[in-house]
Order: sequence, then structure tokens, then C-alpha cells
Amino acid sequence: METIEGLKRSDYCGDLSSSDIGREVTLMGWVQKKRNLGGLVFVDIRDIKGISQIIFDTEVSKEAFEKAEKLGSEYVIAVVGKVSERQSKNPNMKTGDIEVIASELRVLSKSQTPPIYIKDDDDVSEALRLKYRYLDLRKPRMQKNLLTRQKVTNATRRYLSNLGFCEIETPFLINPTPEGARDYLVPSRVNQGKFYALPQSPQLFKQMLMVSGMDRYFQIVKCFRDEDLRADRQPEFTQIDCEMSFVEEDDVISTMEGLLKDIFKETLNIDVQIPFRRMKYKDAMENYGSDKPDLRFGFEIKNISDIVANCGFKVFSDSTVEGKSVRGINVKSHADSFTRKQITSLEDHAKTYRAKGLAWMKITSEGIVSPILKFFSEEEVKAILERMDAKEGDLLLFVADSDKVVLESLGQVRLEVANRLGLMDKDVYEFLWVTEFPLFEQDEETGKYSAAHHPFTSPLLEDIDRLDVEDKSILRARAYDIVLNGYEIGGGSIRISDPEVQQKMFDVLGLSEEKVEQRFGYLLEAFKYGVPPHAGLAFGLDRLVMLITKQDNIREVIAFPKNQNAVCPLTNAPTEAEEEQLEELGIQIRKSNLK
Ligand code: AMO
Ligand code: AMP
Repeated sequence: METIEGLKRSDYCGDLSSSDIGREVTLMGWVQKKRNLGGLVFVDIRDIKGISQIIFDTEVSKEAFEKAEKLGSEYVIAVVGKVSERQSKNPNMKTGDIEVIASELRVLSKSQTPPIYIKDDDDVSEALRLKYRYLDLRKPRMQKNLLTRQKVTNATRRYLSNLGFCEIETPFLINPTPEGARDYLVPSRVNQGKFYALPQSPQLFKQMLMVSGMDRYFQIVKCFRDEDLRADRQPEFTQIDCEMSFVEEDDVISTMEGLLKDIFKETLNIDVQIPFRRMKYKDAMENYGSDKPDLRFGFEIKNISDIVANCGFKVFSDSTVEGKSVRGINVKSHADSFTRKQITSLEDHAKTYRAKGLAWMKITSEGIVSPILKFFSEEEVKAILERMDAKEGDLLLFVADSDKVVLESLGQVRLEVANRLGLMDKDVYEFLWVTEFPLFEQDEETGKYSAAHHPFTSPLLEDIDRLDVEDKSILRARAYDIVLNGYEIGGGSIRISDPEVQQKMFDVLGLSEEKVEQRFGYLLEAFKYGVPPHAGLAFGLDRLVMLITKQDNIREVIAFPKNQNAVCPLTNAPTEAEEEQLEELGIQIRKSNLK
């Protein structure tokens, strides 16, 4: 194998253009492709900036030519040569106007035949991609994703630092935090039988930094949550975590809008319009069946319960009592886009969200087509059309059930319809603040309340004095989420800084004094020594970058992600610990738990 001794890279492969014609350059990179045309060998050489075409000609250098003939895919090479105008220009290639006539070739490293092709549209399983992640990351698309991610963190650091936010690291080996997912535990050797928890977020530390008088904090920080994985969830993910003192909702919201504006300018050169829309949680649920509505399209949910209360379709009339309803969406102008068969498949989709059916009406030039038309009087039909704002060419879809099932299933049908109609345009960015979230969530089985955000989130001012109401689901929080194209990309809240209110919260949550002391004692102690009003927010960096890079999955913007089973296919983590390590930690594995 040869070395680069005496050579210095003069240019990146992807940077050359016609303005370099005549220059002698030294390029270093990987062999993308080789074609042998008798007296000439053409090699595409690739580095992080792109690809250049190299020509090895027996007449220029016989030695280089002979070496070039033996090159294979993904060999690492250094080439010295002269940039010249390309005979047959390639307009699809950034460097398509030039080629490099090689006078010297050094083979720096050979490669076996790679198990995956290094090209963006390589159609290979994700399992293989993750196992050979270092090869997968050679793809231009993947490199661009990581570079975009860095643009986001750079813009973030610059913007927040300019506004007086101080970047402060907080510890990873801590006690459980209050976000409510399962913890990753780390056994302590020095303190036998005791465990650290990895942070689900730096929540309590950032609040203590406000007590410390640091005024404004941020951190680009890993968080760890042992929860079921989805396309937008990883067990370890990164937050842009912020906290501010002496502020209210509008201060946090406008500061974070400015940050997003900067990030989108920096990465996509898009001028996003601020301020963003705001919507109360209740309205989001009622109109979109989701607390993170995708506003790139309409099809809002409308309630027709009052109209169908006495209609002849029992499924509908039976669903107009308290807690149940009949609601629908109008798929405007798309009656013709869905055949009966396709509507049945939408119905199947609704059923996966517990709906029992999906009733429909098409408004056609020949009148209304619907399997349930016969059940309604003329007045009822007229009123339904009016409520649904239905015109010729529209498709109406209805679900009757408990409010919960109706809203969720219709919300999902709304998304499915938009997806099938190609309305989820990745070039469109619709931001939305969702506000006035519920303060508590109630467990359907046990009836127990838990904090919807976390127990340090302040109730809405109007609700502070009625924390003892029977039905706590009506209580609202000073919590806000930032939603982008149907994804929750961030969330935060005004914190409780009044110990009495905090105590009431713990009471509702059924946390004993002992438990509170054990879990959050240090924060409450800190709050005894002068606590400024404070509030904050954390963005999910991975989700934000996923949307900016127009990917469908956060694994595409994380260098070394875990798979659906929380396994790293590259390193095979997690693995068994050595017997000695377990011994030292005083841990015994229950064999019955092993699969
Ligand atoms: P929250 O729990 O809403 O708030 O998290 C903030 C944001 O982090 C992202 N996120 C995730 N991204 C990828 N994988 C995951 N498993 C995952 N979980 C969350 C989401 C989410 O909006 N301490 C509070 C913030 C605060 O109150 O200031 C917190 O962590 O985009
Ligand atoms: P059925 O009489 O059960 O065949 O239903 C007639 C139509 O009503 C079908 O198109 C069903 O999909 C629809 N349907 C049945 N139950 C519901 C429901 N709970 N909500 C909405 N539509 C329903």
C-alpha cells in the first residue's frame, strides 16, 4: 500500500469547475466507479464535496494507467493531474464540465466489495444499512443530512448566545427526572445497590440554574428515554434545551420563533413568517383530532350530532348522547379521487383507530351517492351539507362513536386522505403553537392522574384556585408545544415557582411527602432560597433536522441510531456484562428473565 507522503490535497473532488482548467491538482478520495476503455481508464473519485472524473491515459503515464486498471470500488486513492475541459460534458454532474488527466496515482487503501452500494437511491434493507453504517454514511444524502444538522446546531448556538443564553452542561448520572417515560438505569459500583438514572431531560437542573441566577440557559443535549420506538422516536435523542428567567409565555414563544426563523434561513434559505399561528389544545383536538395538527391541508372535523340526533340511521342517532358524537370531514373536491374500494380501505384505516365504520357521502352532479342516504330526511341532508360546507365534487366521511374514538379516528383518516392525495408536501412548512394543554392525564384503568407535561408546569392562572375540582381533566396548563407539519418538534411550559401551588400539584398526583422528598427534594429545597419566575422549552433536534432535510425518519439524521429493538446493529449494543463486572456491581441476572 502506498502513502500520501509528499502529497498534499489541493482541492476537494466536488469543488472543481471550469475555472480550474489548466491547474495541476491533487485529489484524494474513494473510487466510485471505473470504466476501462482500452487505452483509457475512467475513474470517478468521490469525497465529501462530490465527484470528479479522472482519466488515466497510457500516453500520459503508463504506470498510473496500469495501476488504475486494477482499481476496485471504494479503493482509497490519491491522484495528481491536470484539470482539462471535458470532451462530453455532463450537465447532471456538478463537476461535469471538467475532467482530470492523471499523471500519478497512489493506492492508499484497498476495499473488499462493499455490501451496500454508495449511492443515494440504493434500495437495501435498513438492517444492512445500520450494520454497515460507516458505508451508509458515505452516501451524499446521508453526509448532507449530518452537515445540515451541524448548520442547525451552529445557528442555534449563535442565535441563543447573542441573546445572552449561556450554554451549560448538566450531569448524565443523576436521579430520575419527571418526564414520565421509563428510565435507563446505571448501577453504581461505589454505592452498592444504588443506581443512577440517565436524564430524560435536564429539566430539574435547568430550573436550578434559574435559581442560581444564570438568567438564560441552553444546552444541545442527549436525553434518554426507554420507550417504544417509532419513526420519530429514539431511546437516545438530542434536545435543544432552553430556560429563561423573568419571562412569560409570549417571551419564550417569540424568542423561539426567532430561533426557528434563523435556523430555516441558515439551512434552507427560507424566510418563515413569524409570529406563528396559535391554537388552543381543545380547538386542535376538536378540529383536527390531534394535539399536533398538520396544517398543510384543510379537511377540518365538523360536528353534526345535533343534526342527526333523530335521524333514521341508528348508529348515528345513538351516538348523540353525552360523551359521544357524530363528526365528519369534507375531502373537498375529491369525490372522484376515491373509489368505493378505496373508501373501504380508508374505513379499514379508521378501524385500526377503534372506529366501527366510516360512513360516506359523495356529492356528484347526479345528486348524493351514499349507502346511508336513505336514512335521512331531506332537511337533515340539507343541514348536513350546509354544516360540512359541501359542494358538488366533495367527499364527506363520518364516524359515530365516543368523542375520543371519533376524534382520533377521523384525525387519522384526515392524515391518510391527505397522504394519499399527495398533500403532505415536504417543501411546505406550517408551524403552529398549541397552547393551554390539559394539566393532568387520567389513566383510563386506574383513574389516577399524572402530569400531562411534568409536575413543575404551572396551571393556567384561571385554574390555579380550582385545583381541587372533582374532574381534573378540565384543568389547563401553561404549557405549549411547537408543531411543524404534524410533528411535535418542541414543548415547554411556565414553571411553578410558588411552593403552595407546587404542593397542591403533588397532592393531586398522589405523591406522598416522602416520595416528593426522595425524587425532587433538592429542587424544592432550592426553591426556598429565592426563585425567579421562569419558563422554558426544549426542541427535539432530531425531528427538526428530519423535517428540514425532508426525511421520514429520525434515524436518517442520526449518525449511529438504534433500531426498532433499541439495538445498535453496528456495535451490537446492548451486550451481556462480564461476570466480574456484575460481581463488582453486586448484580445478579435472573436467568428466568432471559429470552
Ligand atoms: P418533552 O418531553 O416534550 O419536554 O421533549 C421535548 C421534545 O423532545 C422531542 N422528543 C423526542 N425526540 C426523539 N425521540 C424521543 N424519544 C423523544 N422524546 C421527546 C420532541 C419533544 O417535543 N423538559 C421538557 C421541556 C421543557 O419543559 O422545557 C421536555 O423534555 O420533539
Ligand atoms: P352497516 O349498516 O353497519 O353496514 O353500515 C352502513 C354504513 O355505515 C357503512 O358504510 C359503515 O361503514 C358505516 N358505519 C357503521 N358504523 C359506523 C360508525 N360507528 N360510524 C360511522 N359510520 C359507520
